[in-house]
Amino acid sequence: MNQDSNWANFRMPTWEDDISLNHDSTTPFNNFPSPSEMPLEEFNAKDVLTPELLGDTPLEDFIKRDTFPIPDASDREGYNPNFNARFFMTGLADFLKIKQVAQQYELDLNSYLDFGCASGRVLRHFCAQSEIPNLWGSDINGRHIRWLNDNMPPRLKLVHNNCIPQLPIADHSFDLVSAFSVFTHIDTFETAWLAELYRVLKPGGLCYLTVHNEDTWKLLQDADDNNGLLKRFRDVDPDFDELLKHDIPQERKCFRYTDVGPYRALVVHSNAYLQKTWGRFFDILEIRGKHHGYMQSVLIGRKKS
Ligand SMILES: C[S@@+](CC[C@H](N)C(=O)[O-])C[C@H]1O[C@@H](n2cnc3c(N)ncnc32)[C@H](O)[C@@H]1O
Repeated sequence: MNQDSNWANFRMPTWEDDISLNHDSTTPFNNFPSPSEMPLEEFNAKDVLTPELLGDTPLEDFIKRDTFPIPDASDREGYNPNFNARFFMTGLADFLKIKQVAQQYELDLNSYLDFGCASGRVLRHFCAQSEIPNLWGSDINGRHIRWLNDNMPPRLKLVHNNCIPQLPIADHSFDLVSAFSVFTHIDTFETAWLAELYRVLKPGGLCYLTVHNEDTWKLLQDADDNNGLLKRFRDVDPDFDELLKHDIPQERKCFRYTDVGPYRALVVHSNAYLQKTWGRFFDILEIRGKHHGYMQSVLIGRKKS
């Protein structure tokens, strides 16, 4: 459906809305200034960017290089709505984590896809901080793709995909594919999406996919009542507190918000399920608990030969 609350912009749903978030309005974006134009004091969140992640490069250098606007909070999928500098820093942390993983697994990173990239929280850093020539992003939300097309350099290629697992991208295109907080929301066609990411990866390529797994479940069990993710699960399932007294209720448990439309679920995976199902496509190198945001884990895999 149209994202505008303005009735003047209301339109009847179309078939595209069933299979994608087809925000075709021309409502302008309310961008904020770029990090390079913001006061340095605002970039003070040492919990996000640790010295191990930053290495020898001072944070100021990363900030100066990023001259792209920051999207309005309504265009960034709930990430740090009241804290623009933190939005920049969480994306930078994820970019640096990917670079570290590439180095650790001796991957020459020349081609990269961020699947479910939204308005480029992570991709902006690949554009600002790297010379990687072959950069792609895709998302089911056309408004995000429009934002990126308006604000990112031409070397980034962008695709508004739909929920049917088929990317218009050639086989063996990428050294690394990431999906940050995307498989945590894909309710149907998960295995077909895994196969699709497998297809576009080069032989030996790596995937970096975030999940809600047992580590997340344990964090939820220990979380206090103000925890945002706990609240989201409770909103979807009134019996969630009862479920949380036990282990993950199914090897893959999907909590749906509505009966129709894509991108309407919270999904939890057990590690055994990830090994059994995702492990058919990727050699699972690691599952790093609490490595994305404050509750998600990261599955690092290598395309099976
Ligand atoms: C929680 S947001 C995370 C956004 C971004 N990856 C980040 O970390 O900032 C999930 C994103 O995945 C997108 N998405 C959900 N299902 C998708 C699908 N089947 N194909 C592509 N994108 C999808 C949503 O539109 C949304 O932008």
